[in-house]
Amino acid sequence: MYLNILLFLLLWFNRLSPVSGKYTTDGPNIAVYWGQGAYQKSLGAYCKTQDVDIIVLSFINDFSIKGVSYNFGNGCDASSVDGTCEEMAHDIKVCQELGVKVIISIGGQNGEYGISSTVDAKLLANQFHDMLGDPDGTIFPGVMIDGVDLDIEKGRHGGFVDFVQEIKRLFAPGFLVTAAPQCVFPDKNIGDAIRLADIDLLFVQFYNNYCNVDQQFNFQTWSQAVSEVFANKRMKVYVGLPGSTEAAGSGYVNLTQLSTLTTEARNDHRFGGFSVWDAKRGFENIVDDSNGNGNRSYISGLRRILHNSSTNISVIDGNIKSPATTAIATTTTTITPLLTTDGQQEDHVVLFSSKLTNQGLQLIVQ
Ligand SMILES: *[C@@H]1O[C@H](CO)[C@@H](O)[C@H](O)[C@H]1NC(C)=O
Ligand SMILES: *[C@@H]1O[C@H](CO)[C@@H](O)[C@H](O)[C@H]1NC(C)=O
Ligand SMILES: *[C@@H]1O[C@H](CO)[C@@H](O)[C@H](O)[C@H]1NC(C)=O
Ligand SMILES: *[C@@H]1O[C@H](CO)[C@@H](O)[C@H](O)[C@H]1NC(C)=O
Repeated sequence: MYLNILLFLLLWFNRLSPVSGKYTTDGPNIAVYWGQGAYQKSLGAYCKTQDVDIIVLSFINDFSIKGVSYNFGNGCDASSVDGTCEEMAHDIKVCQELGVKVIISIGGQNGEYGISSTVDAKLLANQFHDMLGDPDGTIFPGVMIDGVDLDIEKGRHGGFVDFVQEIKRLFAPGFLVTAAPQCVFPDKNIGDAIRLADIDLLFVQFYNNYCNVDQQFNFQTWSQAVSEVFANKRMKVYVGLPGSTEAAGSGYVNLTQLSTLTTEARNDHRFGGFSVWDAKRGFENIVDDSNGNGNRSYISGLRRILHNSSTNISVIDGNIKSPATTAIATTTTTITPLLTTDGQQEDHVVLFSSKLTNQGLQLIVQ
């Protein structure tokens, strides 16, 4: 017997992501790198746009057991008074109060770094904890950061699995460890740590390579590796993008292209959002959003694309139609009692399973 059922699917509405300036575990989020160059706006100014959920301070560019040094462009550098960054510390607080996660990236293109042994890994992790994991720490007085990003592009990399493990042990639960591999799979520098260590988020750089978003885009390879190869099965994969044509040698895609080329990726439950190199370029890149809504920053356009993929739900005859980003789930609902035509009560157990398809989320009544 078939029932006409009015479905109250608050469950699904609850799963929708907030669409502005607030990190959520399931995402989708926008992560933006900040810290290089002379003409950046303050960290706080970018957080206040509400288009950023994670801001990645870049970089601690030299590190070894001999010491650590950092360079945040016009934001601050290691030669500052006392080696502290007071203004950034103030802005980190501004960002965090807006719900933005502030994490710090180690590595990058320049600088000298590397970890080659378990002993070095532990020493270095402790050094980071002293500098960053304590409000009396040396770099950002009075604040605690929310995570560490590994942008390891060269150097000795034998100790990163131990480093991540030690970082996770030293910092509070919920402290994020992220990594920014090149899209070529597996990454030659940080691949082992990604496979074996407890890394939460991947900001995969889908640019400067043959696996760019507009070339042989290999999001699927990364996504599959999460379920089949990586130790952390809950890892989220971000689509890393240049914020403008000048931000990378190749791989910049406009919003129209991006929206089309990432449709499948955005429907993957391992998709975490977009990451962008970098704040200055992505916010100064003013583009036509091609929907007749005038001009906006590229990063705000990314927000619109995420918004589009996660908000429009309508319920039609028991089918939810939505370009959903939510995961497959099975719901069991008991509806009782119901009256039959002869006035007697009947119990019905109705099993729903939901299925994510290209058309959206469908409920199947079994
Ligand atoms: C986006 O890029 C594609 C491919 O290069 C191009 O055909 C299209 O005109 C561009 N759209 C906009 C709005 O710039
Ligand atoms: C958008 O910017 C272009 C130039 O980049 C300009 O020609 C156009 O008038 C702008 N459109 C709006 C609605 O502001
Ligand atoms: C939002 O989705 C609609 C329908 O799928 C599409 O036509 C539109 O271009 C999308 N807008 C953006 C900004 O991606
Ligand atoms: C969501 O759907 C409504 C009604 O169909 C439509 O007016 C609106 O433009 C859609 N929003 C997006 C972001 O696609």
